[in-house]
Amino acid sequence: MTSMFRAMNTTLSNDLYSKLWNNRKTKVWVDDYLTEVSEEEVNTHCVRNRFFLEKIKERLTEIDILINFGAGFSMYPFLLDESIVHIEIDKPAIVNYKKAKISNWIETSELPRRDIHFLGTDFSKDYEEGLYVQIDGIKKDKKSLILLEGVLFFLDLNQAKGIFNFFDKIQNKGEYIGSVSFKHSIKETSVFKRLQRFLNDRILKTSKDDYLAIDTDFYIEKSKYTIREHKDYFMYSKELNNKINLNATDILNENFYLLQKTI
Ligand SMILES: C[S@@+](CC[C@H](N)C(=O)[O-])C[C@H]1O[C@@H](n2cnc3c(N)ncnc32)[C@H](O)[C@@H]1O
Repeated sequence: MTSMFRAMNTTLSNDLYSKLWNNRKTKVWVDDYLTEVSEEEVNTHCVRNRFFLEKIKERLTEIDILINFGAGFSMYPFLLDESIVHIEIDKPAIVNYKKAKISNWIETSELPRRDIHFLGTDFSKDYEEGLYVQIDGIKKDKKSLILLEGVLFFLDLNQAKGIFNFFDKIQNKGEYIGSVSFKHSIKETSVFKRLQRFLNDRILKTSKDDYLAIDTDFYIEKSKYTIREHKDYFMYSKELNNKINLNATDILNENFYLLQKTI
């Protein structure tokens, strides 16, 4: 669904390749989701993707490798300079499917060739040791930007803390983390309740505590990292001249953070 949203407003997302993932089954989900949750979700996903795309492009001389945790079907490798190395991490079924599709599209010249390493992992399991060895073998002394976009929502607080400790282990001073999260206050909005209902009906999660929200303090408390940028959908929309169509309480407002390791 995220890819289809990005494909529905490419002027805003600047993602020309997301349309490759479009299919009829996803279209049905997307239409239901836009009606039942929020029509603004096309643009919120485009703005989120655009934020990180622009931030990475602004720092191209400082980044050798993009490590995308919970990469899903995002298409950053093809939107960025070919000199960047990519590690894409997600659940094994997702990375295997993506890897096969990407290889086909490269063979048919629908996508340009890129240096991508796909790693299958589940962040809810005991993954640290094995994943560290795999990442270290590819990353070596390369300067990284780690991306955690649209993933924290699906983890619990311990898993979220654990994944940031893991980032600290693989990064050196000067390297970046891009992260997206909802603040706690979103849970009181009618749109969030509609999102919960949509996911509960279709994805079988039932507890009201299942979907993680974290406030900016979570990032401020990371003593080795400093927040370099923090924007939300409303703030970055202004910069992009994206006209907002709905009331604030009908918009799933995500926060985008760019942290840099300073110690
Ligand atoms: C909403 S999608 C976002 C995908 C991508 N980052 C984007 O913004 O287009 C969330 C992704 O997180 C992955 N994910 C969620 N929980 C995970 C877990 N426990 N381990 C690994 N990946 C997970 C999902 O498989 C999915 O691809």
